Amino acid sequence: MDAAGTMPVHMLKLTKLTPLCDSVFRLDLQTVDAPMRYREGQFLSIRLPDGQLRSYSMASPDRGDGRIELHIRLLPGGQFSEWLRGTAKAGQVLQAYGPFGDCIWRTPSRATTRIVMLATGTGIAPVKALLEKALSQGVTQSISLYWGGSLESDLYQAGHFAALADQHENFTFIPVLTDADGSWQGRRGFVQAAAAEDHPHLADATVYACGSPLMVNAACELLTTTCGLAPDNFLADAFNPAAATSAPLSQAPDVQLDLAHPDGTRSAITVPADGSLMQALAGAHLMQGVCGGNASCGTCRITVATDWINRLAPPDRTERRLLAALDGTQPTDRLACQIPLQPELHGLIIRLQS
Ligand SMILES: Cc1cc2nc3c(=O)[nH]c(=O)nc-3n(C[C@H](O)[C@H](O)[C@H](O)COP(=O)(O)OP(=O)(O)OC[C@H]3O[C@@H](n4cnc5c(N)ncnc54)[C@H](O)[C@@H]3O)c2cc1C
Ligand code: FES
Repeated sequence: MDAAGTMPVHMLKLTKLTPLCDSVFRLDLQTVDAPMRYREGQFLSIRLPDGQLRSYSMASPDRGDGRIELHIRLLPGGQFSEWLRGTAKAGQVLQAYGPFGDCIWRTPSRATTRIVMLATGTGIAPVKALLEKALSQGVTQSISLYWGGSLESDLYQAGHFAALADQHENFTFIPVLTDADGSWQGRRGFVQAAAAEDHPHLADATVYACGSPLMVNAACELLTTTCGLAPDNFLADAFNPAAATSAPLSQAPDVQLDLAHPDGTRSAITVPADGSLMQALAGAHLMQGVCGGNASCGTCRITVATDWINRLAPPDRTERRLLAALDGTQPTDRLACQIPLQPELHGLIIRLQS
């Protein structure tokens, strides 16, 4: 069975590949079939020839015409990065799944007085889509964008955001560098620290944060504990590496999982009681946790047997939010990536959804 079987699939033609700086490429894609509709802040997952998936966030608002803009950092030795560097050409067609993700644009209520956006590196891609959506809607709340990098050359579209700040009175762009030389006149350090310094009271704010998992975790901790930000108003996508879907090598005792498949058949698998349930099911080629266990794609949703549901630790806020955002969620549905496999789960009965 193809683990990606029921995910929405799209064929995307690569129309243009443009270097944005030394290590980041812009990819312009066009859907070959019906346009893929998406919400600003969402991402898609490109299928590599060996079936692995890599996730990338749309960098511009959905225009409804099937055009998709991605910003991709080329990592040395990375599989998709090396393909882009060496083989990719305009005209090639890629297979992709999506859209996924619940870090999406929320039209601000009257109680929201400000919007703070944080990005590191290519985390600017979804933030750019969110910002352009907000500005096109004419929101009146103040919007502050903090974009962090190591050196000035990392902020490959700083000119674009500076120009938007000139055009929109309610929008401020704050570039923040960690390793700039003495000639840099701007902010230094980490984006979350700069935002906390400028906005010590965030009780009436919405914060979007995208990019490195370290930044996203540190920003959530700092802004909710010291600036009064409500956890539900912190929306984030951490760019976790795809390797997070692999099951860890383990000496842990085995557990048996009883599985009901979407075609009505049943089977059982025996896996080490280690890592997450998603990793075990991905290792058995029964699902693909597209976001790597980040609780942002929903592709690892399962239904737990009624007499097992209360034996699992309850879902946390992030899991509850994503489950609520998915279509047709049942009370016994869970995200397999959020369930740690433990010996007590021997005999767990679940129904797979894809
Ligand atoms: C929700 C989400 C959205 C994302 N959006 C974006 C985006 O918009 N833009 C973007 O640039 N990225 C984004 N990412 C990250 C992206 O999905 C990929 O992780 C990234 O592009 C690397 O893919 P790759 O195939 O080039 O590298 P991989 O093959 O995944 O390798 C990554 C790095 O690990 C090293 N590596 C690989 N295997 C090993 C090993 N066995 N031992 C040691 N090192 C190893 C490689 O050399 C490389 O440097 C996103 C991730 C998520 C989860
Ligand atoms: S793997 Fe993406 S939500 Fe679980």
